Amino acid sequence: MKIAVIGIGYVGLPLAALLSEKFDVLGFDIDAKKIAKLNAGEETLKEPGLKEALDNARPTGRLKFTTSQDEITDCNVKIISVGTPYDESKNDVDYTFLDSALEIICKHLRKGDVVALKSTVPVGTTSSRVAKAISSHGFKVPEDVGVVFSPERIVEGQAVRDFKALPKIIGASDDRSFQVFSTVLSVLGGKIIKVSNPETAELIKMTDNYARFAFLGITNELALASEKFGVDVMEMLKAAKEDYPRNSGLLVPGPGVGGSCLNKDPFILKSNLDKMGLSLKMVDAAKQINSYMPTHISEMVKHYRNDAKVIAIAGVAFKGETDDTRFTPSFKIKDELKVGGAAVRLSDPFVNYVPGVIPDIYEAVRGAEVLVIVTDHNEYKSLDLERIKSLMNSKPLIIDTRALIPRDKAKALGFEYHGLGRL
Ligand SMILES: NC(=O)c1ccc[n+]([C@@H]2O[C@H](COP(=O)([O-])OP(=O)(O)OC[C@H]3O[C@@H](n4cnc5c(N)ncnc54)[C@H](O)[C@@H]3O)[C@@H](O)[C@H]2O)c1
Repeated sequence: MKIAVIGIGYVGLPLAALLSEKFDVLGFDIDAKKIAKLNAGEETLKEPGLKEALDNARPTGRLKFTTSQDEITDCNVKIISVGTPYDESKNDVDYTFLDSALEIICKHLRKGDVVALKSTVPVGTTSSRVAKAISSHGFKVPEDVGVVFSPERIVEGQAVRDFKALPKIIGASDDRSFQVFSTVLSVLGGKIIKVSNPETAELIKMTDNYARFAFLGITNELALASEKFGVDVMEMLKAAKEDYPRNSGLLVPGPGVGGSCLNKDPFILKSNLDKMGLSLKMVDAAKQINSYMPTHISEMVKHYRNDAKVIAIAGVAFKGETDDTRFTPSFKIKDELKVGGAAVRLSDPFVNYVPGVIPDIYEAVRGAEVLVIVTDHNEYKSLDLERIKSLMNSKPLIIDTRALIPRDKAKALGFEYHGLGRL
């Protein structure tokens, strides 16, 4: 068994590294800079455990990164993990990357191959778009080449752990392809769940993010409600969920919904169904509240410190322990606060590619009047508050959008503290 992973990003890179523990893996990407960096042993993205996985793989010689298509033919399992962005102007997926990946794969197919899709796609894509591309190159699906959809459900910041532990759902065109791909994925760990067809597997991926986006809308709205009632939303949610599984779907509120997946998958599902005459209502309602959240945070800052000259934002990544800034609320909060004339400093220990970002939070808060905690990086859970206090302006304010800072301790040290949903 030899595996090609097409698209070496947040999904493809850890996947390729972990599969190479057992198989020969070819990591193919069209981004020559990325491949050169990987071949030079440099990091292209930050994920806990990824560096170790790559370091372990290198001496085995089983993992190869390339921009050359030549060896793709030798790989009997071809996994697609390219981006599938949502194009709002077309109310559809932008298929540019998927189609180009399919074009490359189809030029290098052999009878008996399995083409597996890890990229998130509208329901029906594996059996229609992918199968059609393969048939147009003279192969019968599934007799000559099988197709598989296996939803990727890792969470950035814990991708390596998730790849090893999460159940692997597989919807295949035929039994042989299911067997082949379950052999591949079973080396990662986690149980294999077989579903009847690729469509079921595709809808599971959509369900994950559609539901999460909607639940986040509900929980964010509850945070706003708690502020009105003078209730601490975190205390309320903790007690509401304790020994009461019916409330297990309640999530933790936050400063906005970041990340590429939650900001596209619900809209992909909606556009998918628009074409079939079913209009999803929850997506727009959740979008309304979720996209308001960064504005709510900047309004909180202005409410408590309208005259702030220097504001530090802790966290640029959209979530903890990743360097991914796609759709991060931090940029919107920064832009809205800058309008009031304040100097806004962005700080993040993971994000090293955005100009002006200060890695060290203690450096970023020097002389600041306001510290806004936006990202739930582990480092921010144990900040040295005394040191922060000594570095900030004499009337320091903390706006904590993630309930990361011990409120009582902060207040005892002389900070003014306000949290999202817990004023
Ligand atoms: N990031 C996540 O946590 C996550 C989780 C679950 C599912 N997904 C889905 O997985 C897919 C990939 O997401 P990602 O975050 O890894 O994207 P990414 O942008 O980090 O990586 C995609 C890679 O594909 C490469 N690429 C584009 N066209 C190519 C082609 N024709 N041939 C080879 N390489 C090509 C790009 O250069 C890039 O390196 C998306 O569909 C996404 O929705 C992502």
